[in-house]
Amino acid sequence: MTTAATPAISYSDWPARSADWVEDVVEVFREVAESDEFILKSRVERLEAEIVRLTGAAHAVAVASGTGALTVILSALGVGEGDEVVTPAFSFVSTASTVALRGARPVFADVEYETALLDPAAAEAAVTDRTRALLPAYLFTGSPRMGAFADLAARRGLHLVEDSAVALGAEVDGRPAGRHGIAGVYSFFPAKPAGGIGDAGMIVTDDPELARVARMLRNHGQPAGRRFHHELLGFNCRMDELTAGFLLRKLPRLAELAERRRAVAELYEEGLRPLAPALLPPPAGFAGRSVYTYVVRAREREELRSYLAGQGIETTVYYPRPLHLQPAFAGLGHAPGDFPVAERLCREALALPLHPDMAPGAAERVVDAVQRFYAAGR
Ligand SMILES: Cc1ncc(COP(=O)(O)O)c(C=O)c1O
Repeated sequence: MTTAATPAISYSDWPARSADWVEDVVEVFREVAESDEFILKSRVERLEAEIVRLTGAAHAVAVASGTGALTVILSALGVGEGDEVVTPAFSFVSTASTVALRGARPVFADVEYETALLDPAAAEAAVTDRTRALLPAYLFTGSPRMGAFADLAARRGLHLVEDSAVALGAEVDGRPAGRHGIAGVYSFFPAKPAGGIGDAGMIVTDDPELARVARMLRNHGQPAGRRFHHELLGFNCRMDELTAGFLLRKLPRLAELAERRRAVAELYEEGLRPLAPALLPPPAGFAGRSVYTYVVRAREREELRSYLAGQGIETTVYYPRPLHLQPAFAGLGHAPGDFPVAERLCREALALPLHPDMAPGAAERVVDAVQRFYAAGR
């Protein structure tokens, strides 16, 4: 039950989160409205330069979304019909749909139960003579074992592409997320840690040819400065100036916002770890990781979820159905049981409220409520 003294805790609480940014949004709209720059102009260029500075990548190519970033990279690498790309059975749909939409086959591999991330051994077992690329994804608070994937890619002569959509600012083995293979992506979808005010994404790469082709592909295959000359069949996958202008204001605060997210994750870890094994928090140690969503594995997920809802605490399920059992991938011929860990996570995973602007005491209330649920003899 919620009362004035115990207000509901919403999962992402947009009104609380936007309060800080309203002025910036209004100013950016005014700036853009008074300019004649709308798409792929000076703000976008400055944002690309800022991402280069933040990540150390040689090139950053701004695009319309994280999904667009994956599409453009796969296309620039020439991934297409007859090719296979090894990718997790448990992820956001784009990790695999972008492969399938190139006419290639997403070859699913199972994930690790502890992290919910692509299992390197399973990925290796899925590699065939037709495999062109490995595509692991960062999810929740986790970073894939990029060392193992880089090693596998080198041994088998594969491209390593990182779906680091949620992980701008994270590091693995001292190297920024997105910079372990030939290319990586970031999403600026509003819910993401580096969220903007609409859809937007970024490609990072050290490969000058990939960057050159990606720049053409995002804009109808046109080389820079040659309007209506189409070198390649490309996409309309361009970033607009409103989003870029807003992100230029947000990125300087990204590290501080990430720290606030980590503080909530650490509070959850401390309060929830004693509940194992009935409830398993994600692996601890959030330094260097992107804390996007805090996903626990709960044996009685549906009961816990209803109990928390009754306490005014909103939760979310990432993901209710694994990719290999999605109707959109029915053509791949998978059946329940093919990727048991992914399927188990779909039954157990529950995301607790976490964002940088949680009200004082809100995270503690979540911990209390979860503890009470399990104290009731479960
Ligand atoms: C793991 C993962 N990959 C890719 C994407 C796609 O990013 P976007 O929503 O910007 O297209 C998302 C975002 O939803 C994601 O979580």
